[in-house]
Amino acid sequence: MKRRYFTVLVAVLVVASLLAACGAPAAPPEEEPTTPPQEEPTAPPEEGPAAPSGSIEIFSWWTAGGEAEGLEAMYVVFAAEYPDVEIINATVAGGAGMEAKAVLATRMQAGDAPDSFQVHAGHELIDSWVVAGKMEPVTFLFEENEWLDVYPPGVIEILSSGGDIWSVPVNIHRSNVLWYNEQVFADNGLTVPASLDEFFDAADTLMAAGVTPLALGDSGVWVDLHLFESILLAELGPDAYRGLWDGSTDWNGSGVTAALEAFAGAMEYVNADHSALSWDQAAQLVVDGDAAMTIMGDWAEGYFKSVGLTPDVEFGYVPSPGTAGSFIMLSDSFGLPLGAPNRDGAIAWLTVCGSREGQDAFNPIKGSIPARTDGERSLYDVYLQSAMDDFASDEIVPSLAHGAAASEGWVTAVGDAMTFFVADLDVEAAQAAMAQACVDAGMCE
Ligand code: GAL
Repeated sequence: MKRRYFTVLVAVLVVASLLAACGAPAAPPEEEPTTPPQEEPTAPPEEGPAAPSGSIEIFSWWTAGGEAEGLEAMYVVFAAEYPDVEIINATVAGGAGMEAKAVLATRMQAGDAPDSFQVHAGHELIDSWVVAGKMEPVTFLFEENEWLDVYPPGVIEILSSGGDIWSVPVNIHRSNVLWYNEQVFADNGLTVPASLDEFFDAADTLMAAGVTPLALGDSGVWVDLHLFESILLAELGPDAYRGLWDGSTDWNGSGVTAALEAFAGAMEYVNADHSALSWDQAAQLVVDGDAAMTIMGDWAEGYFKSVGLTPDVEFGYVPSPGTAGSFIMLSDSFGLPLGAPNRDGAIAWLTVCGSREGQDAFNPIKGSIPARTDGERSLYDVYLQSAMDDFASDEIVPSLAHGAAASEGWVTAVGDAMTFFVADLDVEAAQAAMAQACVDAGMCE
């Protein structure tokens, strides 16, 4: 017996050393596969998640031309990947989500969360829903899908709090864009204004010609905040503009005074019915040639294209006057509420939101650039390619009107000051109210 055992051992050692000499690992005999090959691919049932099914409610405010079609394009990508899940498109109309956010708040408080909802990256997400303990972190999605390498670190940072990531961004929008009607500019022999002074000069020429210089649709006060953030940036420059949101720039200072004065000046050049119109109705004034310009985020590009216009043909675009070299950014994202009725379906949705395919279907129509850095550039038009280039090289500063710069409470307080200001154009009162809003937000002394 002993001798036989010894012979077997020698044989094993010889085979092992031969294998080692050939570069193959000398595996001990007991590690040889014993399971029949056909059983290998079968994973234990509990490891493979069941394919999601049922329905999911996706909550957003995307109802206007461009944004609605962009969302629909992402639904098409979703349907191809998850044919067993039905999407319920739950929209509440109203630009920048002013109405939608109120409806969402009521639902969240009542424990009636949708499966996933649109939320701006930054303070709107973190201060409202994360701090309140109403969200589930989605860090695991970034890890599982290897997204940590394909999103800019700055974007991940504004989605993060307490070491976790809290939503999946679908895009990057630019707030500080001046859109203009090419024909109206040509007819009036105008060059595109690069500074606030040039803007007012062009506005005078247009007024004299009987054309509304600046289309405004501020039925929601966010549109005034939107215009104001561009003017603040023009007067302050990127560093001092950033400082407004961390208390290092004085709200009582001369830069804010100048911005309020310029805003009051611009109100002399807007359409008389501005307070009755929405942002897209204002954009339509530019389409029709009834107004020459509008200052709006690049979802306006989605709108112009949705009514059949082509960038650099019927409409042009430049950074809003005085802001070249800076990019006021915001990002739309989708989150996973705690208690989402169909969590698996919501995760499937978020997976499409974060995917290259989903973003490349959505953004070329929406008028935004992908939040991912690996979007397929050739799918994006000439404006969007310029936005991609600017986002890569400009000073990036956060939007006030769209949830990136300041908490919801602070934005509301500045909005209240703005509501009065649009009515009375009292610079001193508006500045005092805005300075107080910073104090109340805990950012100024
Ligand atoms: C913004 C949002 C954009 C667009 C716009 C007008 O707040 O980020 O995606 O929807 O409002 O509704």
